[in-house]
Amino acid sequence: MREFDQIYMKTGDMVMQSEFVASWANKKRLAFIGDGDSISVCVAYLHARGILNYGPSMTTVFDFDERMVSAINRFADRERLENLQAVLYNCIDSLPQNKLFECFYTNPPWGASNNGASVNLFVQRGIEATRSHGEGMIVIADDPDLEWPQEVLYQVQAFASANGFYVSRMMPQLHSYHLDDAPDLRSCNLIIKARPGNTQRLGSEPIRDSARLDNFYGRDTQVRVRYIRERKRLDYGKADETEYELELLEEAT
Ligand SMILES: C[S@@+](CC[C@H](N)C(=O)[O-])C[C@H]1O[C@@H](n2cnc3c(N)ncnc32)[C@H](O)[C@@H]1O
Repeated sequence: MREFDQIYMKTGDMVMQSEFVASWANKKRLAFIGDGDSISVCVAYLHARGILNYGPSMTTVFDFDERMVSAINRFADRERLENLQAVLYNCIDSLPQNKLFECFYTNPPWGASNNGASVNLFVQRGIEATRSHGEGMIVIADDPDLEWPQEVLYQVQAFASANGFYVSRMMPQLHSYHLDDAPDLRSCNLIIKARPGNTQRLGSEPIRDSARLDNFYGRDTQVRVRYIRERKRLDYGKADETEYELELLEEAT
């Protein structure tokens, strides 16, 4: 759904990205703050099937779209991926603090119309998931010919720095997307890490401040949806009957 920036990474880049995430988060507890691309699923599946012999010890996805959350949980259940689960969660709310993560991954709304404020809300929740002591991989726009991605990169690094994190690695212009009006726009991996003995702490408070929520998914958009709910179907796994009709053979006379 374009209105919520659900724009997916191209398949070849997803494979490369999944391998990289698996090695970066090897043996660690990893939180995904949003994951429409399902990199979490690729990483867990490639690891569980032995195609990669490294990967996170546990992965939790937090996303406000129940279709994603349920699809991940159904897949994990069917494939017996015991280390993968998804939770329905909107970034504007407090993050459930019942688990401690060592690293987080986010490919958030890219903040083109709010100077990266939407990116920083996702990053904030990621930092909170690690209780300010871990590492994070932030996937955001990177184009040296456009001003807004450069400003967003600056704002995100400033936010990370203000919260006791530094940029440990930056992999420029790495991924491309199914984005018909900007097919050449790429994203980078911006990797941040807590400084040793970080004393900055973010309390996980709900955010209702319009300065952080206005233009969240693009110009003149507001956060007005708590969850995208899945319409449950009893016959899940079969073609939806509203999508087709059967034209029958003529009856024999
Ligand atoms: C914003 S999209 C960015 C595009 C990226 N390629 C992807 O689809 O993962 C990332 C994910 O964030 C989720 N998302 C969007 N707004 C959210 C919010 N307020 N709270 C939690 N998740 C959100 C979307 O459902 C999507 O799965």
